[in-house]
Amino acid sequence: MTPTPNVLRQHAEHAYAHELTALAQHDTHPRPPKWNLSPRAVVTYLMGGTLGDGTVITPKYVGDQRLMEVAVATLATDRALLLIGVPGTAKSWVSEHLAAAISGDSTLLVQGTAGTSEEAIRYGWNYARLLADGPSEAALVESPVMHAMREGKIARLEELTRVPSDVQDTLITVLSEKTLPVPELRTEVQATRGFNMIATANNRDKGVNELSSALKRRFNTVVLPTPATLDEEVSIVTQRVQQLGRALGLPDVPPAHEQVRRVITVFRELRGGATLDGKTTLKSPSGTLSTAEAISVMNQSLTLAAHFGDGTPTAHDLAASLTGAVIKDPAQDPVIWREYLETAMKKRAGWGDFYSACREVG
Ligand SMILES: Nc1ncnc2c1ncn2[C@@H]1O[C@H](COP(=O)(O)OP(=O)(O)OP(=O)(O)O)[C@@H](O)[C@H]1O
Ligand SMILES: [Mg+2]
Repeated sequence: MTPTPNVLRQHAEHAYAHELTALAQHDTHPRPPKWNLSPRAVVTYLMGGTLGDGTVITPKYVGDQRLMEVAVATLATDRALLLIGVPGTAKSWVSEHLAAAISGDSTLLVQGTAGTSEEAIRYGWNYARLLADGPSEAALVESPVMHAMREGKIARLEELTRVPSDVQDTLITVLSEKTLPVPELRTEVQATRGFNMIATANNRDKGVNELSSALKRRFNTVVLPTPATLDEEVSIVTQRVQQLGRALGLPDVPPAHEQVRRVITVFRELRGGATLDGKTTLKSPSGTLSTAEAISVMNQSLTLAAHFGDGTPTAHDLAASLTGAVIKDPAQDPVIWREYLETAMKKRAGWGDFYSACREVG
């Protein structure tokens, strides 16, 4: 697919086309059949690095390189990859970049919902044609999965555990026999080399529609953790906020490290139910307060500052965005938030302006 100009969000294979091209040029390692890059180069694409000619590969995933190696190696086997983790741990993000780097196409995507039908995973029919001419190859509407099988590409399935169990099990034949039967045409579509699947699932949805053990066996699971340290989370947020700011056309402001640290500190303390020094226990609000939400908070603060301030987010910009992220349940969360302000924030050295700003919004 060619990139469309002016779209709000480019697919990874377009947004990072120059990196992918440079990686392919410098890639001397063996590539599995139909792969655009070797597994090693895919991991460099994900983790970042500098190539021989000085081309800088930006890091996409911040965290343990071993996890990415296992994920990439899995895709080179006959087992599919299941990325699981709590919300906002980059499951979809990693899945998109893996498909972009391996197949040059991250768009063969099925979004799993409670309403996902078998047709969405297998194939459907163009009913006008079906009625006029009966079942034929021309009346068949292939799903992204069928397309990926034919083309030898990576198919993506988001939120697998939200898909009803009987529909999930449609995947068993696809993943173990590598074929999709089309009984109406007395034929089948066999997967060609290069085909595999990346599914994502959310820990919090566990039990919604647990995978059958038959299906589980077809997947290798990689658990994406929440960022281990404050510094790691700060670097994820700083990096993503800069990228998003550029995409939104915000003026380039110096990375607001101190501000990001404050937001992440609040997030980690509320998430963990204790202050970072472990001295005070806290109640956690109803929302997940994921890294993804910290990115939104910073993004909103920067937008406020860009349009209504001097470009650098103030404690007031931060407080306004943060309060909205923390208070999700209008009944309990305001109480928990106020308690946090009084027990954790108030006496913290250097946080006076932030504390007052948060109190004002609250
Ligand atoms: N470890 C990380 N490295 C790089 N980016 C990260 C990391 N963790 C989170 N992010 C960022 O967080 C954002 C949200 O990630 P994503 O949407 O992939 O989460 P998810 O795990 O799919 O969540 P959900 O379960 O809600 O679907 C992305 O912009 C991603 O860049
Ligand atoms: Mg997701």
